[in-house]
Amino acid sequence: MKKELKIPLIKNGTVIDHITAGNAVKVLHILGIPISTSSVVSVAMNVKSKFGKKDIVKVENREIDPQEVDKIALISPKATINIIRDYKVAKKHKVELPNEIIGIVSCSNPTCVSNANEPVKSRFKVIEKDPPKIKCYYCEREPEVIADRII
Ligand SMILES: Nc1ncnc2c1ncn2[C@@H]1O[C@H](COP(=O)(O)OP(=O)(O)OP(=O)(O)O)[C@@H](O)[C@H]1O
Ligand SMILES: [Mg+2]
Ligand SMILES: [Zn+2]
Repeated sequence: MKKELKIPLIKNGTVIDHITAGNAVKVLHILGIPISTSSVVSVAMNVKSKFGKKDIVKVENREIDPQEVDKIALISPKATINIIRDYKVAKKHKVELPNEIIGIVSCSNPTCVSNANEPVKSRFKVIEKDPPKIKCYYCEREPEVIADRII
């Protein structure tokens, strides 16, 4: 008996591979994919990989913008983005956090200037990329659980 369930190949779209095990649903959330989507979406959780376990998300007819890539890097620093065109991997790149992230994570300090009603965008310095550690440029607060602060 075959021990693997084949999931359908996608013709055009994106495969996010090597997602930190347990974070696939967060990736779906980042991509804004609703529970009631009509697109073909495949999610694999806790599958075996060369280095322990990983999750995979495959979305048909969807490419990913740079802000989404940075958000994915914050929760899955080893993820790879594979652009699928005509069933083949047309492009592959590893996510990589830039040295600063602007406007994608909110500061956990309620009195931070970036949380005031002024038009100051949140801004963080990236101290470590894997596992990610970030520090507010304005008040130096480090969010404990970055995933909970993604805007
Ligand atoms: N047409 C497709 N539809 C769905 N998934 C695909 C398609 N083509 C490739 N993939 C998936 O995209 C990912 C990357 O494919 P690739 O062939 O580059 O694998 P790989 O050599 O194992 O890559 P890596 O070294 O990044 O792990 C794999 O998870 C693969 O299953
Ligand atoms: Mg592989
Ligand atoms: Zn702050």
